Amino acid sequence: MEYLKFCFVFSCCLKFANSVYSTETPQAPAPIPKEKLLVLTVATEKTDGFNRFMQSAKYFNYTVKVLGMGDPWKGGDVGHSIGGGQKVRLLKEAMEALADQEDLVVLSVDSYDLIFAGGPEEILRKFQQANHKVLFAAEGQIWPDKRLADRYPSIRSGKRYLNSGGIIGYAPYINRVVSQWSLHDNDDDQLFYTKIYLDPLQRETLNMTLDHKCQIFQNLNGAVDEVLLKFGTDRVRVRNTVYDSLPVVVHGNGNTKMYLNYLANYVPNTWNYEHGCSHCDDDLVDLSQLKEYPNVLVGVFIEQPTPFLPEFFQRLLTLDYPKDKLKLFVHNNEVYHEKHIQKFWEENRNVFKSFKVVGPEENLSQGEARNMGMDICRQDATCDHYLSIDSDVMLTNRQTLKLLIEQNRKIIGPLVTRHSKLWSNFWGALSLDGYYARSEDYVDIVQRKRVGVWNIPYMAHVYLVKGSVLRNELKERNYFVLEKLDPDMALCRNAREMGVFMYITNRHDFGRLISTANYNISHYNNDLWQIFENPVDWKEKYIHQNYTRIFTENQLEEPCPDVFWFPVFSVKACDELVEEMEHYGSWSGGSHEDKRIAGGYETVPTDDIHMKQIGFDKEWLHFIREFISPVTLKVFSGYYTKGYAVMNFVVKYTPERQAYLRPHHDSSTFTINIALNNKDTDFQGGGCRFHRYNCSIVSPKKGWSFMHPGRLTHLHEGLPTTNGTRYIAVSFIDP
Ligand SMILES: *[C@@H]1O[C@H](CO)[C@@H](O)[C@H](O)[C@H]1NC(C)=O
Ligand SMILES: *[C@@H]1O[C@H](CO)[C@@H](O)[C@H](O)[C@H]1NC(C)=O
Ligand SMILES: *[C@@H]1O[C@H](CO)[C@@H](O)[C@H](O)[C@H]1NC(C)=O
Ligand SMILES: *[C@@H]1O[C@H](CO)[C@@H](O)[C@H](O)[C@H]1NC(C)=O
Ligand SMILES: *[C@@H]1O[C@H](CO)[C@@H](O)[C@H](O)[C@H]1NC(C)=O
Ligand SMILES: *[C@@H]1O[C@H](CO)[C@@H](O)[C@H](O)[C@H]1NC(C)=O
Ligand SMILES: *[C@@H]1O[C@H](CO)[C@@H](O)[C@H](O)[C@H]1NC(C)=O
Repeated sequence: MEYLKFCFVFSCCLKFANSVYSTETPQAPAPIPKEKLLVLTVATEKTDGFNRFMQSAKYFNYTVKVLGMGDPWKGGDVGHSIGGGQKVRLLKEAMEALADQEDLVVLSVDSYDLIFAGGPEEILRKFQQANHKVLFAAEGQIWPDKRLADRYPSIRSGKRYLNSGGIIGYAPYINRVVSQWSLHDNDDDQLFYTKIYLDPLQRETLNMTLDHKCQIFQNLNGAVDEVLLKFGTDRVRVRNTVYDSLPVVVHGNGNTKMYLNYLANYVPNTWNYEHGCSHCDDDLVDLSQLKEYPNVLVGVFIEQPTPFLPEFFQRLLTLDYPKDKLKLFVHNNEVYHEKHIQKFWEENRNVFKSFKVVGPEENLSQGEARNMGMDICRQDATCDHYLSIDSDVMLTNRQTLKLLIEQNRKIIGPLVTRHSKLWSNFWGALSLDGYYARSEDYVDIVQRKRVGVWNIPYMAHVYLVKGSVLRNELKERNYFVLEKLDPDMALCRNAREMGVFMYITNRHDFGRLISTANYNISHYNNDLWQIFENPVDWKEKYIHQNYTRIFTENQLEEPCPDVFWFPVFSVKACDELVEEMEHYGSWSGGSHEDKRIAGGYETVPTDDIHMKQIGFDKEWLHFIREFISPVTLKVFSGYYTKGYAVMNFVVKYTPERQAYLRPHHDSSTFTINIALNNKDTDFQGGGCRFHRYNCSIVSPKKGWSFMHPGRLTHLHEGLPTTNGTRYIAVSFIDP
């Protein structure tokens, strides 16, 4: 439907175009056959932009002749100053051979920053409608000589000034324009054409005009706000909303290269709603067909205290990739993490092909460290890829490295996002000053509503760069240090300026970014406190693997009447909580006097430490609400717990101190009691007996919790621990 609508609009604007360009003739001239169109472009290197241009040309079956490929570029730095004369010289040379082909139409365009949005028939039709022999692209800003503005013919509306990025005309006429060239390769091409065009005599005899209303040529400089993407069934176009036109040639001139990159993620057929991504499978590398897997240097950057670092390293280890093809370079800026790295290194140093760590004592800035990592790959001719990964990236997809290599781009990052946030590792657009701007498609890409491989201006945290690119386009050694930019912004700006495209793929779920904010490292096991900041990683680390089966498979036992028994804590949760308490060390001693509680007297005292004493009460209550409340609702249906508790503590039973607890009720509606260690290995004896039912549970399981009513029915006692030390975590819920 959408496509039909836009055809309708399109036919309207053609009529409009007719009336602008020509006095209406009763018979339209015969269309120019599409074989009569030849595209000429100058390109000295096969940049990413050039390849993209060729891809769009191929899609529409344009006949393209590339001039100057492999020649050294002497046309100056056209991005920043005048230049481009080399393009005219090459065009002049090429036109000499074509000058006598009267019915040949030549389209001369740039290629590094330009794509086709329509085909040869359309361009020829519009050219015919323009009714001139030579048509130049137009733009709203005059360049390079502002003093020439007054000499331009005045127009009622449209873009007034000539842009040399696109020229279409009959071969003999184009030849008569370019044969006038006698300047140097680094002189300005646009100035040259402008002077010819501004000469009234030449303008008339060479029958030249400008494409004022972007029928054919859309220059984006100064016109970004005028254009929109227009989605059709097979194709996506750019629509100029000011002139209501559908330009055929879209040119990211001036500083609109990033905007062109965005448009070219869709135009002409890169991605659309019907078919999704159409080039994602082009040029894939099939790793299974290679004799050997490529060598990859993995650069790991730990630049700030990062939760779940041991888990981060485990994920690296479990990447599905031969470890003897991986070299590891770790920059660790944090003394706090030295113990984690030491442990990982001791266990795995022989697993990888090499393993180098640069620690905080080197006092490297982040930029220096990143330069160093990248340079190790650059200097090593056997390094095929460089994977840079920051410690806050949790790659949950074990195939990530393979998938990135197979995608075969110069620079590509996997999309990783902060859980349930729109925060991710890329930007869809840049503001004018080079910082973040949200692109129209950002949210859809982050949420994977649009899936593909996206050309973007900035990415960070994790990306793969080809070794060959480090030894060619990015062969300097200092990309991460630039002005006052942060290192990733510096790298991306350098890559943009070198014309190397950066891609983000969201074709798969790769993993997530964790939050390093509010990471307090003054506890003993700091990750325990991350339940708010990084709930997904917290759950993965601390909640029992089979917890969810309580709900899906009814994995829940009832060893005594109304005493429910279920897995809730992982081994790590149990161990770290015990460690945390022992590290704190001030066990109450189990006396009746207790300053920690209201009234100061405990009738049934245990030898314990309250969660509040280690600053863990808010986190603990959150745990109860998140993980205990759902179980309560399941087993005591109709009872909605507030999940509130004042008494939350870890109890220690040992024959040397307190070994048992006499029969008592709890001051709770219900109580949970989680075993934190193992019978037989850690202690002997222990357990719990419920008097009313003459029922004992004598083999508590580590990480499993009891849940039972607190008062009235469930008078209970703690059975003696006869050897070793037994730990349990207890909460009196809804007192
Ligand atoms: C290009 O040519 C091929 C082969 O002749 C044809 O199948 C395809 O439809 C053409 N593409 C366009 C956009 O006309
Ligand atoms: C320009 O060329 C067109 C045909 O290509 C012709 O109809 C028109 O009269 C010419 N204009 C001038 C000013 O010569
Ligand atoms: C580390 O480097 C910074 C900046 O380069 C410098 O100010 C600081 O004194 C250095 N510290 C040590 C311990 O060398
Ligand atoms: C970090 O934790 C310690 C110990 O619980 C506490 O004293 C400190 O206030 C916390 N720091 C921050 C910034 O929350
Ligand atoms: C989870 O349940 C499965 C099947 O009963 C069992 O094999 C596995 O060991 C359990 N996981 C843990 C951590 O106990
Ligand atoms: C309690 O149970 C034990 C063993 O199951 C049994 O020997 C004992 O007689 C029971 N006591 C009462 C009071 O029923
Ligand atoms: C108590 O435990 C220790 C070590 O766990 C063991 O060596 C010892 O034999 C145990 N004592 C008894 C009485 O079982």
